[in-house]
Amino acid sequence: MILNILALGDVVGTASVEKIQKNLWKIRREMNIHFVVANGENSALGGGIDIKSAKALTDAGVDVVTTGNHTFKRREIREYLDDNSTIIRPANFPDEVSGSGYTVINANGFRFLVMNVMGLVFMDPLACPFRTTEKILKNAPEYDVSILDIHAESTSEKIALSLYFDGKIDVMFGTHTHVQTSDVRVMKNGSGYITDLGMCGPDDSVLGIKKEKIFERLITHMPTKFDVAETNVTLHGAVFSYDTDKKMTVKAELFEY
Ligand SMILES: [Fe+2]
Repeated sequence: MILNILALGDVVGTASVEKIQKNLWKIRREMNIHFVVANGENSALGGGIDIKSAKALTDAGVDVVTTGNHTFKRREIREYLDDNSTIIRPANFPDEVSGSGYTVINANGFRFLVMNVMGLVFMDPLACPFRTTEKILKNAPEYDVSILDIHAESTSEKIALSLYFDGKIDVMFGTHTHVQTSDVRVMKNGSGYITDLGMCGPDDSVLGIKKEKIFERLITHMPTKFDVAETNVTLHGAVFSYDTDKKMTVKAELFEY
C-alpha cells in the first residue's frame, strides 16, 4: 500500500488557517492523502500558536501540528501541549518544558511517529538535534512510518541532519525559513526529504509580514511592529509517498495550492 503524507510549511496568520479550514478536507480527498503534518508555530493572530489556532488546524484535517522557536510565545499553549498528543514542540527543549517532542498517531490503520527538533545554528542553544532524534528513535513506542520536522535556520544543518538519518527516518522536511526549496527528493537510502517546505501564508509579503513594515525596519532601523500581511494566501509544502511493502519513501513532490 502507498501512504501519501502531506507536509505543510509554516502556517502564518489567521487567513492561512482559514484557507486550510476551507480546503484541506477537499485536498485530502482529491489527492488521496492519508496523513497531514503542518507547522503551526505562527498560526495565531499576532504570532505564536494559541489553543484556537491549534484546534482549528486539527479540526481542519491536520493530524499532527509541529512547532519551533515560537512555540511558547502564548502561555495558554503550555497546558494544551501537555493535554494533546496531536501537537508537539521541538524535542531538544529541556525535559521539564511542557509538551512532548514526538507523538505516535494512528491513522488509516498505520502508526505514524512524528518528531520535531530545532536546529542550533543561528538559533537558541538547545540540546543536540542529532542525539535528541537518535534518542527518540531508540525509545519511541512501535510505529510504522516515521516523520521528522527539522525547524532550523541553516540549510547546511538541515541537510546534515537529513544525510545522517537517511534510511532511518522515512520522511524529513525543514521548516522555519518560509521559502520553499526545490530539492524535494527521495534520498539514497529511501528517505523523503526537502530542505524547506515553504510557507502557508500571504503572498506579496516578506515571509508573511506586511512588506511596508519590513521596509521601514530595514531602512530606518527603528523598532517596528510586525503585522501579518492581508494578501492572498498560498499553501506550500510537499507530498511524500511511502510504500508499506518496500518500507521506504518512493516519491516526493512539491505541493502548492
Ligand atoms: Fe520558526
